[in-house]
Formats: sequence, structure tokens, C-alpha cells
Amino acid sequence: MNPDSSTIKRRYDRIAPYFEGIEAVMEGLFFKNWRKKCWDQVGGHHILEVGVGTGKNFDYYPKNAKVTAIDFSEQMLKQAIQKRDRKAIAVDLELMDIQSLCFADNSFDTVIGCFVFCSVPLPIKGLKELYRVCKPGGQVLLLEHVLSSNPIMAAIMNLVNPVVVTLVGANINRNTVKNVKACGFKSVCVDPRSSDIIKLIEARK
Ligand SMILES: C[S@@+](CC[C@H](N)C(=O)[O-])C[C@H]1O[C@@H](n2cnc3c(N)ncnc32)[C@H](O)[C@@H]1O
Repeated sequence: MNPDSSTIKRRYDRIAPYFEGIEAVMEGLFFKNWRKKCWDQVGGHHILEVGVGTGKNFDYYPKNAKVTAIDFSEQMLKQAIQKRDRKAIAVDLELMDIQSLCFADNSFDTVIGCFVFCSVPLPIKGLKELYRVCKPGGQVLLLEHVLSSNPIMAAIMNLVNPVVVTLVGANINRNTVKNVKACGFKSVCVDPRSSDIIKLIEARK
């Protein structure tokens, strides 16, 4: 299922005020630990966070780094702006589509996204943009939920996927590791601590 960008944007605009509430249980049980593992691997000074959402990663931003963060949903970004101002986080927030980033080639030491490529309408186009704006030798770090390798679980996820996309704009059956491998990186490593469904991916340009 591949709805267009404006449909996905509208879905995130709609759930933005409730997003953190909807994810609260999963966040506490699983996502929080994974975010720390992901951000612990960030290197370099110039960081781009894609699909910043409501700013759930703000607490993990490295001190003294120059961070820019983008999202294409105005309402998600509005929540992030409020949180940034409340917590005095040093980050430039911009409304932008991952599939056509307004940054020069080779701009960032690390490009990072958490639970984003489940929603990007054209994931390979978006991943190629991440590759483009990453410096040579830099890294793209992605924390993503993907389709299970268990055939029964995968069949259930495929069946339920259209409902999830309609409700919240995210696909639960993406093969993001394969997609990253198709984008020309020098190396793509999946953290061995990853589970069947949650993957921490490090790609080097
Ligand atoms: C599931 S939320 C995750 C938000 C945040 N990264 C987090 O960890 O809580 C996915 C986010 O990606 C954004 N997104 C999806 N496709 C995008 C695109 N093409 N360009 C920019 N943002 C996008 C959505 O608007 C949403 O805020």
C-alpha cells in the first residue's frame, strides 16, 4: 500500500496532538531503550534528524553538536517546536520532505531517523536523499520496525497493514534493510542486538 505524500502528511497532521499518547506503552516498553542505543552511535558535529515528529529524540541529542531536524507534517513539527521551546533544545526545525531535501550534497556527518521509513511514501527515493546529503565517510543511522522474517507473523502483518496505514500513516511491512542496501552505501550493518522486527541499521557512505 503506497498512499501519496499529501495523504500521509494529513494522517500525521491528524494524530499529532495524540501521537505521544498513542505510542506511550510501546515507548516505555521498547522504543526508549532502542533510541538510546541508536543515538549512542552518532558521530561528528553536524547532524540531520529526519522525520523528527514531536521531538521524542530531543533528550538524546549529543551535547555541542549542531543539529537540524525536519518533518513534512506541519502539526507534528508544531509539537516539536513547542517541545524545543519548552525544553530549550538547540535544534533548527524545518518543514521539509525527506524525498527532496533542501540541503547540499555531502552536508552532514550523521543523518539519523527513528521509526520514519515505515511512513515515507517512496522509501528508496528518501533513502537516496539521505545518502546524497551525508558526507563521504559519514553515516546514516536508522531505527526501524520492519516486516517479520517469520512467515506466519509476516502474513498477519501484511493483512493488517492497510488498516494501520489508514489509521496512523505507517506501514508495518516494510523491508527497510533491503531498501538501504539498494542505495549505494559502502557498508550496511544491522546491529546484532536487533530483534526480528526492530532493526538498528548503520550505513556508511
Ligand atoms: C512514526 S513518526 C516517528 C517520529 C519520530 N521520529 C519518533 O521517533 O517519534 C514518523 C514521522 O516521519 C514523518 N515523515 C514521514 N514521511 C516523511 C517525509 N517524506 N518527509 C518528512 N517527514 C516524513 C511523519 O510526518 C512523522 O512525523
